[in-house]
Amino acid sequence: MQIHTTLESLRAARARVGRVALVPTMGSLHDGHIALMRQARAHGDAIIASIFINRLQFGPNEDFDNYPRSFEADCAKLEAAGVAHLFAPGETAMYPRPQRYHVDPPPEQVSILEGAYRPGHFRGVATVVLKLFNIVRPDAALFGKKDYQQLMVLRNMVRELALPIEIVAHETVRAGDGLALSSRNAYLSAAERAEAPRLHRVLNRVRDAVRAGDRDFARLEREAADELDRHGWKTDYVAVRRQADLQAPADENEPLVALGASRLGRPRLIDNVEF
Ligand code: PAF
Repeated sequence: MQIHTTLESLRAARARVGRVALVPTMGSLHDGHIALMRQARAHGDAIIASIFINRLQFGPNEDFDNYPRSFEADCAKLEAAGVAHLFAPGETAMYPRPQRYHVDPPPEQVSILEGAYRPGHFRGVATVVLKLFNIVRPDAALFGKKDYQQLMVLRNMVRELALPIEIVAHETVRAGDGLALSSRNAYLSAAERAEAPRLHRVLNRVRDAVRAGDRDFARLEREAADELDRHGWKTDYVAVRRQADLQAPADENEPLVALGASRLGRPRLIDNVEF
C-alpha cells in the first residue's frame, strides 16, 4: 500500500488507475471500516482509503484532541484488506490556511437529530468530503449506515451538485451482542461496554411496536429514552423518521428508521434500525 500525505502525490497515483472507490475515514479502524474496504473492491479497479481527523466537524466541546488515533495499526489493517493507496494528509496539507469556503447543507437536513446537538457538524463533514472528492476524483465512495444522517446529507450533496460519484451505503457492522461498531466504543469502561447494546435493543423494540401497528411515535420515543436514562444513559433523542428525508412520518407505508443518540459515560453513542 502506498501512503500519500500530499495532494500532489495522491493525484499522481490516482492518475495511474482507472475506476477508483474511495473510503473516507477518520482512522481508528474497526471491522465496520474493513467491511467497507471489502465492499469497495466491487466498485473500483483500486481502493483509495483516506484517514483524516477533520477538525471542521468537531464542536468546540467535542473530542477532537482526544479522538482515538492508531495510525500504524490502521495501515496494517488496510494493507490486509487490499487497499492500494492511503491518503493521509496532515492538517496543513488539507487546510493550508483557514478553510473559508464551506458546503452548507440545507437547514431542514441539518437542524434536526444529530445536527440539533452538533451545530456545524454536517457543514464540516460536507466540506471535507467534497474536498476529498475533488482531490481523489473517485467513481464511487462508500459510507456506513451507522451515520445515517451523514449518509443522507452526502447523497443529497452529490445529487444537487451533480457530482459524478456513486454513493454506496454499507449496513452497520455490529458486535455479537448488537452494539454498532464505532471508534468511540474504545472510551467505554467494561461495565459500560456490557450496558451499551441496550441502545440497539430499545431501537429494535420501537421498530417492533410500530410494525405491530402502534403509531404513537411520541410515546414510543419517550419510553425508549426513559429506559436508557433509567440505566445511566443521558439521551439526546430517540426518533422515528422517514428513511427518505428523516422528517416525521406522514403516511402508513413509507420506509421508516428509528434513530437514537445517547451518552453512556464518556462516549456519545448513535445507532439506528431501518424498517
Ligand atoms: O464518517 C466519518 O468517519 C467522517 O464523518 C468522514 C465521512 C470520514 C468525514 O470526515
